Amino acid sequence: MARLPVIVGSFIFTAIMFVFFTGTAPTISHIEIPQANPGNVHLLIPASGKDENLCKAIVGAAILGYPSPKVLNWGKTFNDEHLVSGGSHIAKISGVSSYLESLSPEQDDDLIIMTDGYDTWFQLRPETLIQRYFDINRRANERIRRELGDHVADINRIEQKIVFSAQKRCWPWAADAPPCYAVPNSTLPEDIFGPDTDTDVHDQNPYLKFRPRYLNSGVVVGTAGAMRLLFAEAVVRAKKDPNFGSDQNIFGSIFGDQEVYREVLRQRDQSWFGRQHSLRSDDPRRDLFHENDLEAVRNMTRSLEFGIGLDYEGAISLPTVFSEDDTEWVNFDNKIWIDFFNYKRDIDDEHNKLVIAQDIANTAVPLQSNGTDGLELKNWSQVPLFTNVPTGFTPAIIHHNAHRDGMKNLRTKVWDKIWFQPYARVLMDQYMDTPLTALAVAGGREWRSSDEWKGGARDDVGQWLPYQDVCGGTETEVFRDGKGPWMASRHV
Ligand SMILES: *[C@@H]1O[C@H](CO)[C@@H](O)[C@H](O)[C@H]1NC(C)=O
Ligand SMILES: *[C@@H]1O[C@H](CO)[C@@H](O)[C@H](O)[C@H]1NC(C)=O
Ligand SMILES: *[C@@H]1O[C@H](CO)[C@@H](O)[C@H](O)[C@H]1NC(C)=O
Ligand SMILES: *[C@@H]1O[C@H](CO)[C@@H](O)[C@H](O)[C@H]1NC(C)=O
Repeated sequence: MARLPVIVGSFIFTAIMFVFFTGTAPTISHIEIPQANPGNVHLLIPASGKDENLCKAIVGAAILGYPSPKVLNWGKTFNDEHLVSGGSHIAKISGVSSYLESLSPEQDDDLIIMTDGYDTWFQLRPETLIQRYFDINRRANERIRRELGDHVADINRIEQKIVFSAQKRCWPWAADAPPCYAVPNSTLPEDIFGPDTDTDVHDQNPYLKFRPRYLNSGVVVGTAGAMRLLFAEAVVRAKKDPNFGSDQNIFGSIFGDQEVYREVLRQRDQSWFGRQHSLRSDDPRRDLFHENDLEAVRNMTRSLEFGIGLDYEGAISLPTVFSEDDTEWVNFDNKIWIDFFNYKRDIDDEHNKLVIAQDIANTAVPLQSNGTDGLELKNWSQVPLFTNVPTGFTPAIIHHNAHRDGMKNLRTKVWDKIWFQPYARVLMDQYMDTPLTALAVAGGREWRSSDEWKGGARDDVGQWLPYQDVCGGTETEVFRDGKGPWMASRHV
């Protein structure tokens, strides 16, 4: 047994000598192994108890065909007066972390969708969301390789695997902190909000014309392996500083550090001793990063690469905060309204006119009758879709985090606007009567639900919670049809 450290030690020595003499670390070449076997999709919703706003997410997810959610921290109470919000923020991180730790390494390429429990509504099918996730990463990885070079990306395994939502305001840091200044620019066009894009036009919303560029932790999609590493880091940071504020603070800080770390690697590759002052004078990123932040990351002497990136378009999810004035419920088949919105957006260019996105239109129609349920066939152009009018993107998930002027009440006020709400009871019945099918084909493989059970949820230990246990009693608000409790029992 004593021989093992010697062998390991000499291996490390050889590796160091190899790096020393060749200037590159021995790389394990990146061979794309086609994934013939299907992957699973897991939906995680941290939520401790029954709540009508939670059930708006659960019922919407079911109707659209998402996997039955894992409600993490179910039944827990948060009243530790030494912790922020009684400890609910730290529990959100550790609850998700425990779930990810429980998955086996063979499940590392599974997909995790995590959403806030009490203010997210599902709007589009999982197929659209999953395809967008792969598309966002493909484009981001092209950008990363353009900026860092293939060599730096390969030897340090820099690859985007996690997508958080993006918001317009950098919060809660000062503008000169890495989560604000060091993160990539928005990929949206520089004139997306007209000539005043990215300036304060002294509206009541100072962020009105700003492009989303900063992390919002309300919705995140990523591979199980990458998310496990990220949440393990988040748990360590949360424990170190129990008054860290919120998960938003933790994930934003990690993202900022990752971007500084990527710059450290780039400089190491570009310059003598990896120092900023020895970069070429025409290096476009020469003065962008603060030397002190670079040094702090160099001092950490470990990888801060987590594969985090953002959904700048709000294609996966749109946080409504500071975007209050950008969104409308759009019926894409209503030509008069579409013409009006295009006029309001001041867009002449045919290519940028509002149209239903193909990746929405290609999925199973939202409403279909089984012959006796009184529903009428409707396609995606014929139902209202919550859409960011200036950008033209319709998010798969709506994150109602706007709070200005009491806007949190929009979770109640506009609930009847989301396309499925008026038919929710019949659509829940249809969902229970329809066998599970594959969720999507994307990223070179087929995606399936992680759960074969429908209608309810699972708790932290994987125990099935029937609909009645999670949502029974919320029907008055969720279904708004005065027909009393919804029963799943006859189906399962
Ligand atoms: C963002 O864009 C501005 C203006 O083009 C540029 O000066 C800056 O370096 C960019 N920042 C990053 C982090 O790439
Ligand atoms: C980095 O480490 C050195 C040596 O321990 C220390 O003097 C310096 O203050 C550290 N820098 C930062 C930014 O933490
Ligand atoms: C929806 O149906 C209408 C009427 O049949 C048709 O004109 C339109 O092209 C369809 N749109 C989509 C997105 O399928
Ligand atoms: C159609 O749906 C209704 C309401 O969910 C249900 O009662 C009925 O049994 C269904 N009919 C068929 C033929 O599946």
